[in-house]
This record gives sequence, C-alpha cells and structure tokens, in this order.
Amino acid sequence: MKIIVCENYDEMSLKGAEIVKEQVNSKPDCILGLATGSTPVGLYACLSEMNKKGDVDFSKVTSFNLDEYYPISPENDQSYRYFMNENLFSKINIDIEKTHVPNGMAEDPEKACKEYDESILAAGGIDLQILGIGQNGHIAFNEPDDELYEGTHLTGLTESTIKANSRFFEKEEDVPTKAVTMGIGSIMRAKKIIILANGPAKLDIVTKLINGGITTNIPASILKVHPDVTMICTRDAYPEN
Ligand code: PGA
Repeated sequence: MKIIVCENYDEMSLKGAEIVKEQVNSKPDCILGLATGSTPVGLYACLSEMNKKGDVDFSKVTSFNLDEYYPISPENDQSYRYFMNENLFSKINIDIEKTHVPNGMAEDPEKACKEYDESILAAGGIDLQILGIGQNGHIAFNEPDDELYEGTHLTGLTESTIKANSRFFEKEEDVPTKAVTMGIGSIMRAKKIIILANGPAKLDIVTKLINGGITTNIPASILKVHPDVTMICTRDAYPEN
C-alpha cells in the first residue's frame, strides 16, 4: 500500500481529486466507485471546481456508490443518494442516469443486491474506487466481523458506526441500523483504489492498519493485498508525526 501524507484536509482532498482527474482524463468512459461520509466532501468540491474550469469532463463516466442506508428513500436528506446529488452530481456534468447508488427502498433487497453486482460487472468493473475508513476499520459498511461478504448485501451497523454517524442526525436513535453495502469482492476487484483518512479520530485505526496484519476485525486490512492502493491521509491521522 502506497501512503501519501498531506499537511491538511485541503491538501488531501486536492491530491485525491487529482488522481480522479487523471483517471477520467486517461479513460473518459471509466467506471468510478464513489464513497460518502464527511471525508470525501472536499475531494468532491475540488472535482466540481476542476469540472467548472474545463480540466475534467464527466459526461461519459459511470459511477457506483459503495452503500446506502436501509430503509431510506432517495429524497431523504440523510440518504447517500441525496448526499451524492448535493455534493457532486448536481455540480459536475455527469449523466445522472449513469450514477448508481444502492436502492435503500428495495422490496427485495437480496435481489436488488445481486442486480447491483451484475450492473457493476456488466459495466466492466470499477476502474478507480474511492474509499473512506471507519474508526473501527470498516470500508463501505463492511463492519468488523468473523467473516466478510464478497458481494453486495444488507447488513446491520455496529454500535461504533451508529455512534460515529449520529453526528449527521438529530439524535442517535435516528441513525438507521441497517445498510446495503458493496461487499469486499467488488471493492477488491477495482483496478485502482484510493483510501482517504482525515484527522486525529482516524489515527488509531490508521496505526493499526499500517502496523498490523490482515484480519476481518479490520476489514480495511484486506486492502494490503491489493496491487494498487494509495492511502492519502492527513499528518494528524498518520502515526509517525
Ligand atoms: P467519515 O466516514 O468520512 O465520515 O469519517 C468514513 C467511513 O465511515 O467510511
């Protein structure tokens, strides 16, 4: 795993956005894997700026988001579909029909998950996957457990994730307790991955990730066997400061 340590959040965001820009410029019809959460907001703002200036064109890009709460409607301002529309899709020239977020309202989630995986495969697989990392080491909503799932699936959220995400909600009880998430397989099949870690809240997990082995207790640790992963973190999230 390559590691880039940045001085601050803005530098991390720009670095990440530059990698996305290079990807799209070298393959205009590429498939991007996108993440939500507070960390990539700055990266998305940089991409919006670059798009406005004409430095990158998203018109042929297809995107697949990692996850979505369940159950939640796309109009709900806490949904990840809403987040993506607000933070990125409405600000760049991507064709909204080519953007995919798991369906948080699926009547048959198992079928919807299977179809989500099939659409990723049919599109040719993810060229560049953007990831955040949970304080417990989760990637997407693949939470620490005895086993990790290969495909997209419905999962329960851990206490730690519910607590961490409660900052976006009025109260902790409002945080959905389930989510639909891409599995480890779709993430690991991405040709290239960038994982962002910002701020002291991520120092402990980044330290464990860098110094420890591969374990399902830290789902992000599986990334260590992927051939093209770059971690972009801020200095205060990096152990050797
Ligand atoms: P955050 O979430 O970007 O809001 O810290 C990251 C994650 O949970 O994957």
